[in-house]
Amino acid sequence: MLDTDFAPVDPNPRIAFHDYALDLSGFGQALLNGLSGLHKAIPCRFIYDARGSALFDRICELEEYYPTRTEIGILRRCAPDIARRVGPGAQLIELGGASSLKAEILLDALERPGAYVPIDISRDNLRSATRRLHLRRPDLSIHAVCADYAQPFALPPIEGGGRRLGFFPGSTIGNLQPDEAVSFLTDWAARLGPGAAMVVGVDLRKSTAVLERAYDDAQGVTAAFSKNVLVRANSELSADFNLDLFAHRARYDVEHGRIEIHLESLADQTAHVLGRAIALKAGERIHIEDSYKYSLAGFGDLAVAAGFAPEAVWTDPDQLFSVHYLVTPAALRNS
Ligand code: AVJ
Repeated sequence: MLDTDFAPVDPNPRIAFHDYALDLSGFGQALLNGLSGLHKAIPCRFIYDARGSALFDRICELEEYYPTRTEIGILRRCAPDIARRVGPGAQLIELGGASSLKAEILLDALERPGAYVPIDISRDNLRSATRRLHLRRPDLSIHAVCADYAQPFALPPIEGGGRRLGFFPGSTIGNLQPDEAVSFLTDWAARLGPGAAMVVGVDLRKSTAVLERAYDDAQGVTAAFSKNVLVRANSELSADFNLDLFAHRARYDVEHGRIEIHLESLADQTAHVLGRAIALKAGERIHIEDSYKYSLAGFGDLAVAAGFAPEAVWTDPDQLFSVHYLVTPAALRNS
């Protein structure tokens, strides 16, 4: 799994690039599996190739999509408090950290940050973002890790004696089912080790109208983002999905607190993936994403179930979004 150690590979001693072998070959198999059952589904991570990531960046700029700008506003206000709590020399570890915009808000506030460790599966984004960040902050030590942050890999050692500060913004945790989110955080509590902290951005429960607008914008950017999984299948797996025969549907399930996104077939049709025929009835849906929303207490309970102690939480005046500060017990053994 590991194909590098933590010796810097860049001539610049301030930047190290750690590359882990990524298995991204699973798209064809996942697609066939997901489309052959009674309930059709495709895991949402397959939306994110270069085009899908660019569409997601456009979603973040939409008037309807409130999470990104709201979280940035909260981070600007709470960063000094986070910096005070975590103390000097902290190693900032960002899960999914290619763009580094939100991390820079924390880096600006931290006292002498020990290192910035962005972890991202998109190698090209990670490389270019790391170099740009280095130009702006030549004194910051950066360990860029190209890896899937859900898979095990070694974290760089801490230089300078500060604490580890995990950072998982964007409510990306909402893509996991709640039980998966508990396992994920349990795993990260162990990886960060005793006496570490973690900042998690979590979208809050709110009115169905606001949520459904955020996931079905007027310009159709979110619809294009959803359909990108079929675009990818057409280009990578010689599939023949007719994009005009699918509609993006986003509905809020109040009981489960989740946005459910489907692609709905608009006709009886047969598509082909890797030579296999996939029949769809008019009205039949392919489930492509869940985005869970939490109450403040609900996410606190989830963090506790994962072995974290919730120490602080910040929201915006409209209670749209939350930023949680969690700590690992000092006695927790590092795994
Ligand atoms: C990247 C999972 C945080 O759920 O809000 C946005 C993905 N999908 N619009 C979200 C998404 C459609 C986004 N996350």
